[in-house]
Amino acid sequence: MATFDYKSGCLHGEAVPLEAVAQRFGTPTYVYSRAAILENYRRLADGLARIPNLICYSVKANSNLNILRLLGEAGAGFDIVSAGELTRVLRAGADPSRVVFSGVGKTAEEIDAGLEAGILMFNVESGGELEVLEGRAKALGKAAALSIRVNPDVVAETHPYISTGQIVHKFGVPKNEAIELYRRVARSASLRARGVTCHIGSQILEVEPFHKALDEILEVARAVREVAPATEFLDIGGGFGIPYQGEKPLAHERLFEGLESRLRGTPYRLVIEPGRSIVGDAGVLLARVLYVKRNAQKNFIVVDAGMNDLMRPTLYGSYHEIVPVVRRSAETLTADVVGPLCETGDFLAQGRPMPDVEPGDLLAILTAGAYGYVLASNYNTRPRPAEVLIDGDQAGLIRVRERLEDLMAGETA
Ligand code: LLP
Repeated sequence: MATFDYKSGCLHGEAVPLEAVAQRFGTPTYVYSRAAILENYRRLADGLARIPNLICYSVKANSNLNILRLLGEAGAGFDIVSAGELTRVLRAGADPSRVVFSGVGKTAEEIDAGLEAGILMFNVESGGELEVLEGRAKALGKAAALSIRVNPDVVAETHPYISTGQIVHKFGVPKNEAIELYRRVARSASLRARGVTCHIGSQILEVEPFHKALDEILEVARAVREVAPATEFLDIGGGFGIPYQGEKPLAHERLFEGLESRLRGTPYRLVIEPGRSIVGDAGVLLARVLYVKRNAQKNFIVVDAGMNDLMRPTLYGSYHEIVPVVRRSAETLTADVVGPLCETGDFLAQGRPMPDVEPGDLLAILTAGAYGYVLASNYNTRPRPAEVLIDGDQAGLIRVRERLEDLMAGETA
């Protein structure tokens, strides 16, 4: 992705020098490229053009209203997991009939909100949830459209915290149980089966698990054809991985071909729920160096962004490339890049070859557009960062930096 690139020694987002962004909006700040987001979305949309499909952007990856609006206008539907995300997509102008609602723990209130909004379908994750959905639909005099989330027991190579499609995980129900649930749906006047769903995990770089997952839900769809004739959508979830550290990218062409060949001649329409692959490489986190500390064993570069701003390195041991915004020295030292928080786990990189930076220098933490801001917290009473969207030579604030007053607003004293 050439949208974050050096020009005359200074890292730019599209045509905007990131130094200027830091000067104008301060640090730490998340910076996104509009062109990169749209390019990632179009790569999927173009790749799937030969298959009837619906791309439901997974809001949890980056839920900024501006980004939701951008994707909605580009034609995306949305995958949501809470009443909060539903409120966001509606506020961003989404068409509710292109919204799917996933998640193992939907409350009755959240189900009501989805029913009132008229979403495309609830991705139901248990018999208990189906019961609550039926009750709420009856109470509101509506028919609830749904798909059952099948746990396909497919192993996907990824971090154990974000692998979801095996029987040991809390998500979905086994195939046999799913078929049973479709029978229950068929007997209910308040429930309508509209699809079959699965999601096998996140940051998956191999093609085969996705093909296998589609095979599994196709099998379920065929098994329930008699009892659920209105089943139209086959939702394989999200999870399409991206390179963070020079990994071999997911073979999109092969992915699309395999999906197409499986769906050709069937009555089904494919749904995908991509999050990371749309916004991940379209964002960076800008941080300023506060101090450089050296002791007998280690070097530490202390920056003004911490685990509260970008949780991924601490939580998953994730790698994010860190580069200087202005290239000054080729010298390298090996350092831990750490935040200001009072935790040893507060790091952005460990044992990393870094340029010889000084206090005041700017660093960009790359590939931070997905699961960055959305996982940020106020730990140590630190306001969450600002968010900026670049479009060509324009940089616009799409979320103001939190203020200390915001943090304490709901507290009694
Ligand atoms: N659909 C469902 C049902 C999901 O649970 C998820 C992600 C997605 C779609 C989107 O997956 P994606 O395309 O973004 O991989 N915080 C972790 C990732 C957690 C993913 C949770 N579910 C991280 O920072 O790596």
